[in-house]
Amino acid sequence: MRHLLTLFDLEPAEFDAIFAITRDLKSKYENGLREPILPGRVLAMLFEKPSLRTRVSFETAILQLGGGSLFLGDDVGFGKRESIEDFGRVLGQYVDVIVSRTWQHERLVAFAGHCSCSVINGLSDVAHPCQALADLFTVREHFSGIRDATIAWVGDGNNMARSLAIGCAKMGMRFVGAMPEGYQLAEPYLERIRREVPGAAVEITTDPVEAVRGADALYTDVWASMGQEEEREQRMQDLAAYQVNGALMAEAPERAIFMHCMPAHRGQEVTAEVIDGPQSVIFQQAANRMHVQKGVLAWLLGSSL
Ligand code: CP
Ligand code: NVA
Repeated sequence: MRHLLTLFDLEPAEFDAIFAITRDLKSKYENGLREPILPGRVLAMLFEKPSLRTRVSFETAILQLGGGSLFLGDDVGFGKRESIEDFGRVLGQYVDVIVSRTWQHERLVAFAGHCSCSVINGLSDVAHPCQALADLFTVREHFSGIRDATIAWVGDGNNMARSLAIGCAKMGMRFVGAMPEGYQLAEPYLERIRREVPGAAVEITTDPVEAVRGADALYTDVWASMGQEEEREQRMQDLAAYQVNGALMAEAPERAIFMHCMPAHRGQEVTAEVIDGPQSVIFQQAANRMHVQKGVLAWLLGSSL
């Protein structure tokens, strides 16, 4: 049984396989064709946190592929009415695939270990693999001739940064993280990337200007992720020098694009002029979520046929 809990779960060739399906389905969609290649398949969406992009792009994706979806919020009592393991054993018998957005990654791992169908991580405190897949697809689409693009991450070394770092390594891209002390990707995590992907180009600095020089893409995310609301004030102070604004964009090459997983906080981690500026591709990233979710669903369900 294949699960997609982090991008460590995918081999480099599997990124290419998912992206090949995505490209095919996206081009058909743009030509008005919605191919029902997953008829009767049911996707359960088990969400403990709010979501716009992840929820709607997955639900739309499975509907357009001929399947159906069930949104499971608080009322199913995940982790409350029975053990996570029992919950997984039951739910996995009803549906073909599950997308889960949980507070704690360990709970997701325990749950997936007891599901008899594939489980996809729709964001945990540790990782956001589906967003990173859509981002890597967007970079490949934008720089069609460049395979070894450099992504400069500016800000908090959070779940999104972790997923992009391993995704870049697996795709042969360079990841440079500009993160202040106390907000950097943990050394054991970086060591795991270098061990699993020999030759991985993953670097960390505290200097945003150094990170963006030579970058093909500048990427940032909120300074306080869901669940970190109480740390917000401290984080605003600690990360203030890491705002992506016009001055930082000017340090990057002219070809550089601006990326953000959204939701974005204008005036905090990024200014409105950058979000709405000509280098911003954040709405293409959001649009690609739906296309890449289709690739992931078709690949996972196809591979378990
Ligand atoms: N980027 C992303 O995952 O957005 P949502 O939280 O709205 O799903
Ligand atoms: N790092 C953010 C990403 C939201 C899509 C969070 O976890 O809230």
